[in-house]
Formats: sequence, structure tokens, C-alpha cells
Amino acid sequence: MPVIAVIGAQWGDEGKGKVIDMLAEKADIVVRFSGGDNAGHTIVNPFGKFALQLVPSGIFFPDTICIIGNGVVINPAVLIEEMSSLNKRGISTENLIISDRANIIMPYHLVLEGYEEKARGKSAIGTTRKGIGPAFADKTARIGIRMGDLLDKEYFSERLISILEHKNNIITRVYNAEPLSYEEIYRKYCEYAETLAPHIRETSLILDNAIKDGSLILLEGAQGTLLDPDFGTYPYATSSSPMAGGASIGAGIGPTRIDAVVGVYKGYITRVGAGPMPTRLDDELGEMLRKRGNEYGTVSGRPRDCGWFDAVAAHMTHRLNGFTGLAITKLDNLDTLPVIRICTSYELDGKTIDYFPATIHALERVKPVYEEIPGWQTDISGIREYDKLPRQAIKYIERLEELLSCPVNFISVGPERSQTIWKKPIL
Ligand code: GDP
Ligand code: IMO
Ligand code: MG
Repeated sequence: MPVIAVIGAQWGDEGKGKVIDMLAEKADIVVRFSGGDNAGHTIVNPFGKFALQLVPSGIFFPDTICIIGNGVVINPAVLIEEMSSLNKRGISTENLIISDRANIIMPYHLVLEGYEEKARGKSAIGTTRKGIGPAFADKTARIGIRMGDLLDKEYFSERLISILEHKNNIITRVYNAEPLSYEEIYRKYCEYAETLAPHIRETSLILDNAIKDGSLILLEGAQGTLLDPDFGTYPYATSSSPMAGGASIGAGIGPTRIDAVVGVYKGYITRVGAGPMPTRLDDELGEMLRKRGNEYGTVSGRPRDCGWFDAVAAHMTHRLNGFTGLAITKLDNLDTLPVIRICTSYELDGKTIDYFPATIHALERVKPVYEEIPGWQTDISGIREYDKLPRQAIKYIERLEELLSCPVNFISVGPERSQTIWKKPIL
């Protein structure tokens, strides 16, 4: 059985949680490999409605092992709270395993991110303020603390003393604020360690053995490729790679062992936080898509900007991830539209271009060039077979396949597990 990566192909919130929950029925293991609690994955299934931030979306199947991989940064307080709220609703977290190599979000990450975003003024990134950027920066600077470190109190204490001294220097001298207390942090994080210790393990070996045993493993993407720190709208990006390449590193699985990569695209596009978005609709139509599609942050409640499907950006994210198939979600949110537009190229300073520019200044200047497709103006949320979709909806899907040169595996027409239309098996 294979390893399948499910990757966000736009600016996040494509419906990855729904897709994983739906696919996890047959999976042995589900792994989160990037980001942290900046993710908000909404699941609607027979157990109710859930918003997951750190726990993989396979948690609803009691026999499925859920792994938080080495590539994730973990706020232990958030994780413990999430586990306990799942437990209260009857969902067991016994099968949750946490990589001992995953870096930890510390109180100074949250504090410093607040000051940094404020200091950026008009250029603020609009981060989720969960300390994600500062935690990944420390990981790369080799001053992070990892889950495994918490299990060795003496080592944890030594490391915290030296790192906190450096952080408190910044907090007091740069931002003129009160230093953080070593004793308080040490005590709190030792408590977290006690709660989480039974779950902390080496995870890449577990995955290696599972692959050898022929298990079905799902790699659950967080964020989206247009937020990637290399290829996204930098600096309006996140701090870990949400891409298929990131899945390999963040789970600890060699790239040749990933058998399929499914790109998740909404039938239109959304973005939350600051940064350019060429097909953004700043009008009534954008507002209608937001309201109808309930396009508000899963955790933060921030309104998401909505726009037409951007095939220029989509082409790039397909190319970078090497998608073997596509999932088109929220197609039902286009049900009422008489005409649907797809951006097929950009105009930049009077020239037509077919690539996604690297710089913010260019992206802010591009004007989308659209083609139009008639809408279907029927409720498709109850349809379960591809052939039963209205002719115009099929035309839209086939046009997306043509533009991206990639087959669609399935289409999502509602938030629930069952609201899925299969077109082509993933493998
Ligand atoms: P994720 O971060 O990629 O998991 O996506 P989010 O959960 O943040 O946002 C997707 C939202 O759309 C959630 O509220 C889902 O319940 C909902 N959703 C997912 N797929 C569909 C769909 O096909 N149709 C509709 N109407 N809603 C969907
Ligand atoms: P899921 O997994 C949508 C955005 C933030 C901000 C930028 C940087 O639910 O798709 P960060 O806190 O990561 O430093 O913020 O990235 N962002 C997301 N947008 N969905 C997400 O996750 C996101 N995670 C981060 O809004 O613009
Ligand atoms: Mg989300």
C-alpha cells in the first residue's frame, strides 16, 4: 500500500482537513509534517464538527495512528487542550504519536512575534500570532528546543537557561519590556512534558517499518503552496514548506517513497492575512463567495478574501509539487453564479505573462486575464456521481484539468465526508 501526500495548492484553507478525514477511513497512518497551530482544519463527520490545529485529521478512526512529524512546531499547551477537548467529545487520542525531533513553541516566540508584527507597521504579515515564524527561525538558527529535550530535565534546563538569557536581552533591550521568568517556563514545560511523554517517540522509524509492511500512509498538508517561504508570496508567507518536498523532510520519508501527491484546490481561491492576490474580488461577488462559502478563519475567525480560480498560480503550484492528481473542493459554492471566470494569464506593464512573478511589486501590478465559462446555477451538493453533475460543471472541471494538464481525482461538494464525487482513483 502506498504513501499519499495531500497538499494545499493555493493560500491554505483549501479543505485539506475534509479530504484527509474522508481518505483516512482506509489509512493506517496519518502524518502532519509542517506548520503548527497556525493550521485550522475543519472536519464535519458523523461525530460532529471539529476544528483541528495540531492533531492529524485521521484521529476519528480508532485504528489509525496519527503522527505529528518532526517538521511541525508544537505549542504543547495548545496540543494538550486539543487532545482534551477531543477526549471530552469521545474521540480517543491514544494513537497519537509526537516526533521527538519536533521543535517546541516557547512563550518568548509568542511574545516576540507580537512585537515584530507591531514593529512592521503597514508591512505587517498578518500572521496567526501563534509564534510559528519565531519558532522556525530558532530551529534554523539551532537555538530551538525539541520535544525529546523535554524528557531530559537536566538538558532542558541547561538549554532553556542559555536561550532565555538571549531572548530576554532582546525583550528588555530592544522592546523595553519585562523579561520572562525561567522558573515559570521551566515548571510549566515540565508539566507539559509529563502529560505528553507517553506520546513522544522516534517517528521516522515507525514510518519506515509501516512502509515496509505495506501500510497506507497519508501525509496531511498544512497551509498552501502559495504561502511557501521559497515559492509563495514572500515575505507574505509562512515559515515552513507546505509542499510535497516539505512532506518528505517533515515526515522523515525519502521522496522516492511517496507514491502519489494530491493537490487540493478550491474551485475558486481564498487568502487570509496580508499580501498580493491577483484575482481578489473586492466587490459584492467576493462578499457573496465569502458569505455563501463561510470563508472565515477556522480558528481566528478572520474574513478570507475571495477571488476567481487563478490558473497561473495553480500551474506553478502543480509544477512545484508534481501533483499526480487534483482534488477540487467547494465547487458547490459556485452553484448560483451565471458566469464563472478563470484567470489564464496576467498582464504585467502591458505585456502578457503566463508565470507567477517572484516579487511582491510585480504581483501587486499584474492584472488577471480571464476566460469565462457559463455557470450551472443548480444545487450540486447532493450529487455523488460525476456523470450526474450538470454539463457546465463537468465542462468547468475538464477545463481545469486541461489548463493544469493533470487529472482530477475527486470533487468536493460540501463539508461532510460523504459530499464527495470520485472521478479517478488516486492510484
Ligand atoms: P483546510 O485548512 O485546508 O483544512 O481548510 P479549512 O477547514 O480551514 O477551510 C475549509 C472550509 O470549507 C471548512 O469550513 C470546511 O468544512 C469547508 N469545506 C470543505 N470542503 C467543502 C466543500 O466541498 N463545500 C463546502 N461548502 N464546504 C467545504
Ligand atoms: P491551513 O492549514 C490559511 C497565513 C497567515 C499569514 C501567513 C503567515 O488551515 O490551510 P504564520 O502564522 O504562519 O506565520 O502566518 O500565513 N496562514 C494561513 N492561511 N490557512 C492556513 O493554514 C494558514 N497558516 C498560516 O494568515 O498570512
Ligand atoms: Mg484552514
